[in-house]
Amino acid sequence: MNAPAPSVASRRAPGPADRLGLRNLVRFARDQLGLLRSVADEYGDVARIELLGQSYFLVSHPDDIEAVLVKHARVMLRDSHSVVLERALGKGLLTSNGELWKHQRKLMAQAFVPRRIQSYGAAMARVTDAGLRPWRDRAVINLHQEMSRLTMEVVADVLFGSGLAPADVEQVRESMETVNEFFANSPEAITMLPAWVPTPRNRRVTAAVARLDELIYRIIAQRRAGESRDDLLGTLLAAQDDDGERMNDRQLRDEAMTLFLAGHETTALTLAHTLYLLSTHPEVERRLHAELAAVVGDRLPTADDVRALPYAERVIKESMRLYPPAWTTGREAAEDVEVGGYRIPKGAQILTSQWVVHHDPRWFPNPEGFDPDRWEGERGKAIPRFAFFPFGGGPRVCIGNHFATLEATLMLATIVGRWRLDLLPGQRLTLKPSVTLRQAGDGLLVRLSAR
Ligand code: HEM
Repeated sequence: MNAPAPSVASRRAPGPADRLGLRNLVRFARDQLGLLRSVADEYGDVARIELLGQSYFLVSHPDDIEAVLVKHARVMLRDSHSVVLERALGKGLLTSNGELWKHQRKLMAQAFVPRRIQSYGAAMARVTDAGLRPWRDRAVINLHQEMSRLTMEVVADVLFGSGLAPADVEQVRESMETVNEFFANSPEAITMLPAWVPTPRNRRVTAAVARLDELIYRIIAQRRAGESRDDLLGTLLAAQDDDGERMNDRQLRDEAMTLFLAGHETTALTLAHTLYLLSTHPEVERRLHAELAAVVGDRLPTADDVRALPYAERVIKESMRLYPPAWTTGREAAEDVEVGGYRIPKGAQILTSQWVVHHDPRWFPNPEGFDPDRWEGERGKAIPRFAFFPFGGGPRVCIGNHFATLEATLMLATIVGRWRLDLLPGQRLTLKPSVTLRQAGDGLLVRLSAR
Protein backbone atom coordinates (compact mmCIF):
# COMPACT_ATOMS: atom_id res chain seq x y z
CA MET A 1 0.00 0.00 0.00
CA ASN A 2 1.29 3.47 -0.84
CA ALA A 3 2.07 5.78 2.10
CA PRO A 4 -0.32 8.72 2.23
CA ALA A 5 1.06 11.86 0.56
CA PRO A 6 2.38 14.27 3.18
CA SER A 7 0.04 17.17 3.78
CA VAL A 8 1.39 20.51 2.60
CA ALA A 9 1.79 21.73 6.15
CA SER A 10 4.15 18.88 7.07
CA ARG A 11 6.66 19.58 4.27
CA ARG A 12 10.12 20.33 5.59
CA ALA A 13 11.75 23.44 4.19
CA PRO A 14 14.96 22.79 2.21
CA GLY A 15 18.32 24.21 3.25
CA PRO A 16 22.06 23.55 3.38
CA ALA A 17 22.65 20.11 4.92
CA ASP A 18 24.50 20.65 8.19
CA ARG A 19 22.97 18.74 11.08
CA LEU A 20 25.04 20.34 13.85
CA GLY A 21 25.06 23.73 12.19
CA LEU A 22 28.81 24.23 12.66
CA ARG A 23 29.65 24.77 8.99
CA ASN A 24 26.78 27.26 8.70
CA LEU A 25 28.09 29.04 11.78
CA VAL A 26 31.51 29.46 10.17
CA ARG A 27 29.90 30.80 6.97
CA PHE A 28 27.64 33.05 9.02
CA ALA A 29 30.56 34.44 11.06
CA ARG A 30 32.50 35.17 7.84
CA ASP A 31 29.76 36.77 5.75
CA GLN A 32 26.27 37.07 7.24
CA LEU A 33 24.83 39.09 4.34
CA GLY A 34 26.29 36.72 1.73
CA LEU A 35 25.06 33.59 3.54
CA LEU A 36 21.45 34.83 3.73
CA ARG A 37 21.38 35.86 0.10
CA SER A 38 22.95 32.67 -1.20
CA VAL A 39 20.60 30.48 0.89
CA ALA A 40 17.55 32.36 -0.46
CA ASP A 41 18.89 32.11 -4.04
CA GLU A 42 19.63 28.41 -3.77
CA TYR A 43 16.76 27.08 -1.63
CA GLY A 44 13.89 29.42 -2.34
CA ASP A 45 11.38 31.51 -0.44
CA VAL A 46 11.27 29.39 2.72
CA ALA A 47 14.68 27.92 3.60
CA ARG A 48 15.98 26.23 6.73
CA ILE A 49 19.39 27.05 8.18
CA GLU A 50 20.71 25.06 11.16
CA LEU A 51 22.97 27.07 13.45
CA LEU A 52 24.39 25.36 16.55
CA GLY A 53 21.44 23.01 16.84
CA GLN A 54 18.82 25.75 16.41
CA SER A 55 16.61 25.89 13.28
CA TYR A 56 16.24 29.26 11.57
CA PHE A 57 13.70 29.67 8.77
CA LEU A 58 14.59 32.35 6.25
CA VAL A 59 11.33 33.63 4.71
CA SER A 60 11.83 35.70 1.56
CA HIS A 61 8.58 36.06 -0.41
CA PRO A 62 6.57 39.25 0.29
CA ASP A 63 3.33 37.24 0.79
CA ASP A 64 5.06 34.89 3.25
CA ILE A 65 6.63 37.84 5.09
CA GLU A 66 3.17 39.32 5.46
CA ALA A 67 1.98 35.94 6.83
CA VAL A 68 4.74 35.97 9.47
CA LEU A 69 4.46 39.62 10.52
CA VAL A 70 0.71 40.18 10.12
CA LYS A 71 -1.43 37.03 9.71
CA HIS A 72 0.38 34.89 12.31
CA ALA A 73 1.38 37.83 14.55
CA ARG A 74 -0.68 36.41 17.43
CA VAL A 75 1.55 33.33 17.68
CA MET A 76 4.88 35.11 17.19
CA LEU A 77 7.33 36.16 19.90
CA ARG A 78 10.45 38.28 19.64
CA ASP A 79 13.37 36.11 18.50
CA SER A 80 15.51 34.45 21.18
CA HIS A 81 18.45 36.85 20.72
CA SER A 82 16.47 39.83 21.95
CA VAL A 83 17.22 38.50 25.47
CA VAL A 84 20.72 39.95 24.99
CA LEU A 85 19.25 43.41 24.38
CA GLU A 86 17.48 43.21 27.76
CA ARG A 87 20.82 43.87 29.43
CA ALA A 88 20.46 47.49 28.39
CA LEU A 89 16.79 47.88 27.52
CA GLY A 90 15.14 45.87 30.30
CA LYS A 91 11.55 45.07 29.38
CA GLY A 92 10.92 47.94 26.99
CA LEU A 93 8.76 47.80 23.88
CA LEU A 94 11.46 46.22 21.72
CA THR A 95 12.21 43.33 24.09
CA SER A 96 8.87 42.52 25.76
CA ASN A 97 6.17 40.05 24.72
CA GLY A 98 2.55 39.18 25.47
CA GLU A 99 0.40 41.28 27.79
CA LEU A 100 3.26 43.52 28.95
CA TRP A 101 4.09 44.43 25.35
CA LYS A 102 0.40 45.05 24.51
CA HIS A 103 -0.05 47.30 27.55
CA GLN A 104 3.14 49.28 26.86
CA ARG A 105 2.46 49.61 23.12
CA LYS A 106 -0.90 51.23 23.90
CA LEU A 107 0.69 53.69 26.34
CA MET A 108 3.64 54.49 24.05
CA ALA A 109 1.36 55.02 21.06
CA GLN A 110 0.12 58.20 22.77
CA ALA A 111 3.54 59.79 22.13
CA PHE A 112 3.51 58.80 18.44
CA VAL A 113 0.13 60.02 17.19
CA PRO A 114 0.47 62.17 14.00
CA ARG A 115 -0.24 65.46 15.80
CA ARG A 116 2.56 64.81 18.32
CA ILE A 117 5.02 63.72 15.65
CA GLN A 118 4.37 66.89 13.64
CA SER A 119 5.05 68.90 16.80
CA TYR A 120 8.56 67.39 17.08
CA GLY A 121 9.43 68.71 13.58
CA ALA A 122 10.51 72.18 14.73
CA ALA A 123 13.01 70.75 17.25
CA MET A 124 14.36 68.30 14.65
CA ALA A 125 15.26 71.11 12.20
CA ARG A 126 16.42 73.56 14.90
CA VAL A 127 18.76 71.05 16.60
CA THR A 128 20.19 69.91 13.24
CA ASP A 129 20.81 73.53 12.24
CA ALA A 130 22.64 74.21 15.53
CA GLY A 131 24.57 70.94 15.18
CA LEU A 132 25.87 71.99 11.74
CA ARG A 133 27.42 75.20 13.06
CA PRO A 134 30.88 73.66 13.66
CA TRP A 135 31.05 72.60 9.97
CA ARG A 136 33.56 74.59 7.88
CA ASP A 137 33.94 74.98 4.12
CA ARG A 138 36.49 72.48 2.66
CA ALA A 139 36.74 70.61 6.00
CA VAL A 140 36.73 66.79 6.01
CA ILE A 141 34.20 65.00 8.24
CA ASN A 142 33.53 61.40 9.15
CA LEU A 143 30.05 60.76 7.80
CA HIS A 144 28.88 58.10 10.26
CA GLN A 145 30.30 59.86 13.32
CA GLU A 146 28.74 63.19 12.39
CA MET A 147 25.31 61.70 11.63
CA SER A 148 25.48 59.76 14.88
CA ARG A 149 26.26 62.97 16.79
CA LEU A 150 23.44 64.88 15.08
CA THR A 151 20.75 62.23 15.54
CA MET A 152 21.76 61.77 19.19
CA GLU A 153 21.33 65.52 19.74
CA VAL A 154 17.93 65.43 17.99
CA VAL A 155 16.63 62.38 19.90
CA ALA A 156 17.92 63.79 23.21
CA ASP A 157 16.13 67.08 22.58
CA VAL A 158 12.85 65.57 21.41
CA LEU A 159 12.84 63.01 24.23
CA PHE A 160 14.05 65.16 27.12
CA GLY A 161 13.66 68.74 25.87
CA SER A 162 16.27 71.00 27.42
CA GLY A 163 16.67 68.53 30.33
CA LEU A 164 20.02 67.29 29.00
CA ALA A 165 23.16 69.43 29.12
CA PRO A 166 25.57 69.06 26.13
CA ALA A 167 27.99 67.12 28.37
CA ASP A 168 25.14 64.71 29.24
CA VAL A 169 24.37 64.17 25.53
CA GLU A 170 28.02 63.33 24.91
CA GLN A 171 28.00 60.91 27.83
CA VAL A 172 24.85 59.21 26.53
CA ARG A 173 26.47 58.88 23.10
CA GLU A 174 29.64 57.30 24.48
CA SER A 175 27.71 54.90 26.72
CA MET A 176 25.34 53.96 23.87
CA GLU A 177 28.36 53.29 21.65
CA THR A 178 29.76 50.88 24.26
CA VAL A 179 26.38 49.13 24.43
CA ASN A 180 26.11 49.02 20.63
CA GLU A 181 29.60 47.58 20.25
CA PHE A 182 28.70 44.90 22.76
CA PHE A 183 25.64 43.90 20.73
CA ALA A 184 27.67 44.01 17.50
CA ASN A 185 28.68 40.37 17.42
CA SER A 186 30.76 40.32 20.60
CA PRO A 187 31.42 36.72 21.76
CA GLU A 188 29.58 37.59 25.00
CA ALA A 189 26.46 38.64 23.08
CA ILE A 190 26.53 35.71 20.62
CA THR A 191 26.92 33.09 23.38
CA MET A 192 24.53 35.02 25.68
CA LEU A 193 27.14 34.90 28.45
CA PRO A 194 25.59 35.92 31.80
CA ALA A 195 26.27 39.52 32.88
CA TRP A 196 28.02 38.41 36.09
CA VAL A 197 30.92 36.72 34.22
CA PRO A 198 33.68 39.32 34.66
CA THR A 199 35.04 39.62 31.09
CA PRO A 200 36.37 43.13 30.28
CA ARG A 201 33.55 43.69 27.76
CA ASN A 202 30.88 42.52 30.21
CA ARG A 203 32.26 44.95 32.80
CA ARG A 204 32.38 47.83 30.33
CA VAL A 205 28.77 47.33 29.25
CA THR A 206 27.54 47.02 32.85
CA ALA A 207 29.29 50.31 33.71
CA ALA A 208 27.85 52.05 30.60
CA VAL A 209 24.30 50.91 31.46
CA ALA A 210 24.81 52.14 35.07
CA ARG A 211 25.84 55.60 33.77
CA LEU A 212 22.77 55.75 31.51
CA ASP A 213 20.54 54.61 34.39
CA GLU A 214 21.87 57.31 36.67
CA LEU A 215 21.13 59.99 34.09
CA ILE A 216 17.67 58.78 33.06
CA TYR A 217 16.48 58.23 36.65
CA ARG A 218 17.78 61.71 37.55
CA ILE A 219 15.72 63.29 34.76
CA ILE A 220 12.61 61.27 35.66
CA ALA A 221 12.94 62.37 39.32
CA GLN A 222 13.33 66.04 38.27
CA ARG A 223 10.21 65.80 36.14
CA ARG A 224 8.14 64.10 38.80
CA ALA A 225 9.14 66.87 41.21
CA GLY A 226 8.60 69.80 38.85
CA GLU A 227 6.47 71.19 36.06
CA SER A 228 5.18 69.11 33.14
CA ARG A 229 6.86 69.59 29.77
CA ASP A 230 5.65 69.08 26.25
CA ASP A 231 8.39 66.71 25.05
CA LEU A 232 8.23 62.96 24.47
CA LEU A 233 9.11 62.10 28.09
CA GLY A 234 6.37 64.50 29.23
CA THR A 235 3.85 62.56 27.10
CA LEU A 236 5.07 59.23 28.48
CA LEU A 237 4.88 60.53 32.08
CA ALA A 238 1.29 61.63 31.49
CA ALA A 239 0.19 58.56 29.47
CA GLN A 240 -2.57 56.57 31.22
CA ASP A 241 -4.02 53.16 30.53
CA ASP A 242 -7.75 52.33 30.60
CA ASP A 243 -7.64 52.10 34.42
CA GLY A 244 -5.95 55.50 34.75
CA GLU A 245 -2.60 53.83 35.68
CA ARG A 246 0.68 55.45 34.63
CA MET A 247 4.13 53.93 34.03
CA ASN A 248 6.38 53.43 37.05
CA ASP A 249 10.00 54.67 37.08
CA ARG A 250 11.44 51.34 35.98
CA GLN A 251 9.08 51.10 33.01
CA LEU A 252 9.77 54.70 32.01
CA ARG A 253 13.50 54.06 32.22
CA ASP A 254 13.23 50.94 30.02
CA GLU A 255 11.16 52.79 27.41
CA ALA A 256 13.40 55.89 27.39
CA MET A 257 16.47 53.66 26.92
CA THR A 258 14.66 51.74 24.13
CA LEU A 259 13.78 54.96 22.30
CA PHE A 260 17.37 56.19 22.59
CA LEU A 261 18.82 52.98 21.24
CA ALA A 262 16.17 52.17 18.60
CA GLY A 263 15.77 55.76 17.46
CA HIS A 264 19.27 57.09 17.19
CA GLU A 265 21.52 54.66 15.35
CA THR A 266 18.94 53.65 12.70
CA THR A 267 18.26 57.23 11.62
CA ALA A 268 21.99 58.08 11.70
CA LEU A 269 22.65 55.18 9.32
CA THR A 270 19.80 56.19 7.01
CA LEU A 271 21.33 59.65 6.70
CA ALA A 272 24.93 58.43 6.37
CA HIS A 273 23.95 55.96 3.62
CA THR A 274 21.80 58.55 1.82
CA LEU A 275 24.55 61.18 1.86
CA TYR A 276 27.03 58.59 0.60
CA LEU A 277 24.68 57.71 -2.28
CA LEU A 278 24.17 61.40 -3.12
CA SER A 279 27.94 61.95 -3.20
CA THR A 280 28.29 59.12 -5.73
CA HIS A 281 25.22 60.12 -7.83
CA PRO A 282 25.64 63.84 -8.61
CA GLU A 283 22.58 63.95 -10.91
CA VAL A 284 20.32 62.76 -8.07
CA GLU A 285 21.96 65.23 -5.70
CA ARG A 286 21.32 68.09 -8.18
CA ARG A 287 17.62 67.19 -8.50
CA LEU A 288 17.22 66.94 -4.74
CA HIS A 289 18.93 70.28 -4.18
CA ALA A 290 16.73 71.92 -6.84
CA GLU A 291 13.59 70.61 -5.09
CA LEU A 292 14.82 71.89 -1.72
CA ALA A 293 15.78 75.29 -3.15
CA ALA A 294 12.31 75.68 -4.70
CA VAL A 295 10.30 74.55 -1.65
CA VAL A 296 12.43 75.52 1.36
CA GLY A 297 14.88 78.14 0.09
CA ASP A 298 17.05 79.70 2.82
CA ARG A 299 14.82 79.10 5.84
CA LEU A 300 14.65 76.00 8.03
CA PRO A 301 12.45 73.17 6.68
CA THR A 302 9.24 72.45 8.58
CA ALA A 303 7.03 69.39 9.04
CA ASP A 304 4.53 71.00 6.64
CA ASP A 305 7.16 71.19 3.87
CA VAL A 306 7.59 67.43 3.80
CA ARG A 307 4.47 66.82 1.68
CA ALA A 308 5.94 69.15 -0.96
CA LEU A 309 9.22 67.19 -1.13
CA PRO A 310 8.31 64.01 -3.07
CA TYR A 311 11.80 63.60 -4.54
CA ALA A 312 13.41 63.74 -1.08
CA GLU A 313 10.96 61.02 0.02
CA ARG A 314 11.90 58.81 -2.95
CA VAL A 315 15.64 59.35 -2.33
CA ILE A 316 15.33 58.27 1.31
CA LYS A 317 13.15 55.27 0.41
CA GLU A 318 15.60 54.11 -2.23
CA SER A 319 18.50 54.50 0.20
CA MET A 320 16.64 52.40 2.80
CA ARG A 321 15.94 49.80 0.13
CA LEU A 322 19.62 49.46 -0.82
CA TYR A 323 21.01 49.75 2.71
CA PRO A 324 18.23 48.88 5.17
CA PRO A 325 19.42 49.97 8.65
CA ALA A 326 17.47 47.03 10.14
CA TRP A 327 18.63 44.23 7.84
CA THR A 328 16.71 41.37 9.49
CA THR A 329 13.55 41.19 11.59
CA GLY A 330 13.26 38.08 13.74
CA ARG A 331 10.44 36.17 15.39
CA GLU A 332 10.11 32.95 17.40
CA ALA A 333 7.13 30.72 16.59
CA ALA A 334 5.08 30.19 19.78
CA GLU A 335 3.05 27.49 17.99
CA ASP A 336 3.49 25.35 14.87
CA VAL A 337 2.62 27.47 11.83
CA GLU A 338 2.46 27.00 8.08
CA VAL A 339 4.27 29.53 5.92
CA GLY A 340 4.52 29.28 2.13
CA GLY A 341 3.41 25.64 2.27
CA TYR A 342 6.05 24.59 4.83
CA ARG A 343 5.70 23.67 8.46
CA ILE A 344 7.58 25.85 10.92
CA PRO A 345 7.65 24.12 14.31
CA LYS A 346 7.02 25.78 17.65
CA GLY A 347 10.27 27.22 19.06
CA ALA A 348 11.91 27.76 15.65
CA GLN A 349 13.43 31.14 14.84
CA ILE A 350 12.04 32.93 11.79
CA LEU A 351 14.12 35.44 9.89
CA THR A 352 12.72 37.92 7.42
CA SER A 353 15.60 39.83 5.88
CA GLN A 354 15.20 43.29 4.45
CA TRP A 355 18.70 42.85 3.03
CA VAL A 356 17.64 39.81 0.97
CA VAL A 357 14.18 40.96 -0.13
CA HIS A 358 15.10 44.58 -0.94
CA HIS A 359 17.69 43.26 -3.45
CA ASP A 360 15.44 40.66 -5.08
CA PRO A 361 15.32 41.26 -8.88
CA ARG A 362 11.75 39.87 -9.00
CA TRP A 363 10.54 43.07 -7.32
CA PHE A 364 13.41 45.44 -8.07
CA PRO A 365 14.89 45.28 -11.60
CA ASN A 366 18.57 46.31 -11.54
CA PRO A 367 18.51 45.73 -7.77
CA GLU A 368 21.96 47.20 -7.07
CA GLY A 369 21.20 50.45 -8.92
CA PHE A 370 20.32 53.63 -6.99
CA ASP A 371 17.15 54.71 -8.78
CA PRO A 372 14.81 56.90 -6.67
CA ASP A 373 12.37 57.09 -9.60
CA ARG A 374 11.49 53.41 -9.23
CA TRP A 375 9.15 54.62 -6.46
CA GLU A 376 7.30 57.05 -8.72
CA GLY A 377 3.69 56.62 -9.93
CA GLU A 378 2.71 53.29 -11.50
CA ARG A 379 6.23 51.86 -11.17
CA GLY A 380 6.09 52.44 -7.42
CA LYS A 381 2.58 51.03 -7.09
CA ALA A 382 3.64 47.78 -8.80
CA ILE A 383 6.08 46.93 -5.97
CA PRO A 384 4.45 44.36 -3.62
CA ARG A 385 3.66 45.69 -0.15
CA PHE A 386 6.10 43.48 1.76
CA ALA A 387 8.92 43.62 -0.79
CA PHE A 388 9.96 46.80 1.04
CA PHE A 389 9.65 46.70 4.81
CA PRO A 390 12.43 48.77 6.41
CA PHE A 391 10.28 49.26 9.51
CA GLY A 392 9.02 45.66 9.81
CA GLY A 393 5.26 45.22 9.81
CA GLY A 394 2.09 44.11 11.55
CA PRO A 395 1.27 44.97 15.18
CA ARG A 396 4.98 45.22 16.06
CA VAL A 397 5.86 47.55 13.21
CA CYS A 398 8.42 50.19 14.27
CA ILE A 399 6.50 52.60 16.49
CA GLY A 400 8.91 55.34 15.39
CA ASN A 401 8.44 54.86 11.61
CA HIS A 402 6.67 58.19 10.95
CA PHE A 403 8.90 59.94 13.46
CA ALA A 404 12.00 58.55 11.68
CA THR A 405 10.74 59.48 8.22
CA LEU A 406 10.03 63.05 9.31
CA GLU A 407 13.36 63.28 11.13
CA ALA A 408 15.38 61.89 8.19
CA THR A 409 13.64 64.20 5.71
CA LEU A 410 14.06 67.35 7.81
CA MET A 411 17.68 66.54 8.65
CA LEU A 412 18.51 65.72 5.03
CA ALA A 413 16.81 68.93 3.85
CA THR A 414 18.73 71.01 6.41
CA ILE A 415 22.07 69.44 5.43
CA VAL A 416 21.69 69.31 1.64
CA GLY A 417 20.17 72.81 1.55
CA ARG A 418 23.47 74.24 2.84
CA TRP A 419 26.23 71.76 2.11
CA ARG A 420 27.53 69.56 -0.69
CA LEU A 421 29.39 66.48 0.49
CA ASP A 422 32.05 64.89 -1.72
CA LEU A 423 33.48 61.49 -0.96
CA LEU A 424 37.29 61.64 -0.64
CA PRO A 425 39.12 59.71 -3.37
CA GLY A 426 39.72 56.06 -2.56
CA GLN A 427 36.81 55.84 -0.08
CA ARG A 428 34.53 52.84 -0.64
CA LEU A 429 31.48 51.71 1.26
CA THR A 430 31.91 48.35 2.97
CA LEU A 431 29.00 47.13 5.04
CA LYS A 432 29.29 45.61 8.47
CA PRO A 433 26.16 43.91 9.75
CA SER A 434 25.67 44.11 13.49
CA VAL A 435 22.29 44.76 15.15
CA THR A 436 22.03 47.41 12.44
CA LEU A 437 23.71 47.57 9.01
CA ARG A 438 26.71 49.78 9.64
CA GLN A 439 29.56 51.13 7.55
CA ALA A 440 32.71 49.09 8.21
CA GLY A 441 35.96 50.46 9.61
CA ASP A 442 36.16 54.00 10.89
CA GLY A 443 33.45 55.29 8.53
CA LEU A 444 33.58 57.20 5.26
CA LEU A 445 35.31 60.56 4.93
CA VAL A 446 33.70 63.37 2.92
CA ARG A 447 34.75 66.94 2.11
CA LEU A 448 32.27 69.73 2.82
CA SER A 449 31.51 72.53 0.36
CA ALA A 450 29.30 75.39 1.51
CA ARG A 451 26.56 76.28 -1.02
C1 HEM B 1 15.25 54.78 9.88
C2 HEM B 1 14.99 54.61 11.14
C3 HEM B 1 14.38 53.35 11.73
C4 HEM B 1 14.32 52.07 11.23
C5 HEM B 1 14.85 51.56 9.91
C6 HEM B 1 13.63 51.27 12.23
C7 HEM B 1 13.34 49.92 12.07
C8 HEM B 1 12.65 49.16 13.00
C9 HEM B 1 12.30 47.77 12.83
C10 HEM B 1 12.63 46.91 11.61
C11 HEM B 1 11.65 47.37 13.94
C12 HEM B 1 11.11 45.96 14.23
C13 HEM B 1 9.73 45.83 13.64
C14 HEM B 1 9.20 44.43 13.73
O1 HEM B 1 9.70 43.61 14.53
O2 HEM B 1 8.26 44.11 12.97
C15 HEM B 1 11.58 48.50 14.83
C16 HEM B 1 10.98 48.49 16.07
C17 HEM B 1 10.95 49.56 16.93
N1 HEM B 1 11.42 50.84 16.66
FE1 HEM B 1 12.25 51.48 14.96
N2 HEM B 1 13.31 52.06 13.29
C18 HEM B 1 13.74 53.35 13.04
C19 HEM B 1 13.58 54.44 13.83
C20 HEM B 1 12.99 54.46 15.06
C21 HEM B 1 12.76 55.62 15.88
C22 HEM B 1 13.14 57.05 15.46
C23 HEM B 1 12.19 55.21 17.04
C24 HEM B 1 11.74 55.99 18.24
C25 HEM B 1 11.82 57.28 18.38
C26 HEM B 1 12.04 53.76 16.95
C27 HEM B 1 11.51 52.96 17.95
C28 HEM B 1 11.21 51.61 17.79
C29 HEM B 1 10.59 50.79 18.83
C30 HEM B 1 10.20 51.26 20.22
C31 HEM B 1 10.41 49.51 18.28
C32 HEM B 1 9.76 48.30 18.95
C33 HEM B 1 8.28 48.24 18.55
C34 HEM B 1 7.50 47.05 19.10
O3 HEM B 1 8.06 45.95 19.19
O4 HEM B 1 6.34 47.24 19.43
N3 HEM B 1 12.52 53.35 15.74
N4 HEM B 1 12.19 49.58 14.23
